[in-house]
Amino acid sequence: MKTRVFSLIAVLLSTAVVLFSCKFGAAEPKNALSEFESNFDMMWSDDHFKTSEDGNTWLLSLDKETGCGFLTKQRYRFGWFSMKLKLVGGDSAGIVTAYYMCSDKDAAPERDELDFEFLGNRTGEPYVIQTNVYKTGVGNREMRHSLWFDPTEDFHTYSILWNSHQILFFVDRVPIRVYKNNNKPNDFFPNEKPMYLFSSIWNADDWATRGGLEKTDWKKAPFVSTFKDYKLDGCEWKDPYPECVSTTTEHWWDQYDSWHLTDSQKKDFAWVERNLVIYDYCKDTERFPKLPEECSLSPWD
Ligand SMILES: *[C@@H]1O[C@H](CO)[C@@H](O)[C@H](O)[C@H]1NC(C)=O
Repeated sequence: MKTRVFSLIAVLLSTAVVLFSCKFGAAEPKNALSEFESNFDMMWSDDHFKTSEDGNTWLLSLDKETGCGFLTKQRYRFGWFSMKLKLVGGDSAGIVTAYYMCSDKDAAPERDELDFEFLGNRTGEPYVIQTNVYKTGVGNREMRHSLWFDPTEDFHTYSILWNSHQILFFVDRVPIRVYKNNNKPNDFFPNEKPMYLFSSIWNADDWATRGGLEKTDWKKAPFVSTFKDYKLDGCEWKDPYPECVSTTTEHWWDQYDSWHLTDSQKKDFAWVERNLVIYDYCKDTERFPKLPEECSLSPWD
C-alpha cells in the first residue's frame, strides 16, 4: 500500500513537472523586455528609448533636445556581434545612427573601438556607411561605403566578427571591410581590451552629410532608428581573471575558418571593392604621405 501511494505521488509529481515545463519552458514566449533589461543599460536619455509592445523591437529617437543610446552590461573579447537595424527614413540629413564596440563607456583617451556609423541624407539621397577602427585612442582609419539597398525601408543585419587574426564588418553576411592583424606586436590591431557593444543616435550635422553642408531639419523630428534581433556570441569578460585572456579555438568565431575570408566571402568582398567603396583611408596618400602600417596587409591572405 505504502509503495502504491508512493508511486501515485511520483506519477502526479512527474505530470506536474511536465505541465510546469510546458508552461514555463519552450512554450512560453521569452520575455524580451527583460531580455533588454538583463543584457543592456541605457547610456543616456531613457525617455528617448522605447520598445515595441512585445519588447522585441527597440526604438532610439532623436529630437532637438537629445538623442539616446544603450550599451551591453558586459564586455567581450572576441566574438560575433550582430544586430538588425532599420534606419531613420525620409529626411535624415545630419543624423548619425551608430552601432559600435568600445573598451570604455566614454571617449577615454586610451580606448579601443570598432565603429559602424550610418550617415543620414536628404530625402531620396543615399545613406553612407562609415566604419572606423581605434587602437589606444587613435582612429583615423575611416572607410566609407554605399549600400546596395535602402537601409530605411527594411531591417538589415550589421555584424562584427572579431578575433586576434582579423576584424570583419558585415552587412547582411557580406563582408564589406577586412581589417587584418600581422600577429606581431603592433599599435594598430585592437586585441587586448574587452569591449562593450553600443548603439546610439545623435546629431552630427557639423560633419556627417556632405561634410556638414546639409543641416538637420528639426521640423521633421523626432528621428527614429529601430533595432532588433541582436546576436552576441563572444567571450564574456570576467574580472579578475578572465577566460578570454588567451585565445582558444573552442568557438567558431575563433577557429581557422574565421581567421581569413572564406572563398564565398572573397567573391562578395571583391564585388564590394569594385562597386561600393566611396573612401578608403589606405588610398588617401594626400592625408597619409606614408600610409599606415596595416594598409600593407592583404585582405585576401
Ligand atoms: C548624400 O547625398 C549626396 C548626393 O547624392 C552624396 O554626394 C553624399 O555622399 C550622400 N551622403 C552623405 C553622408 O553625405
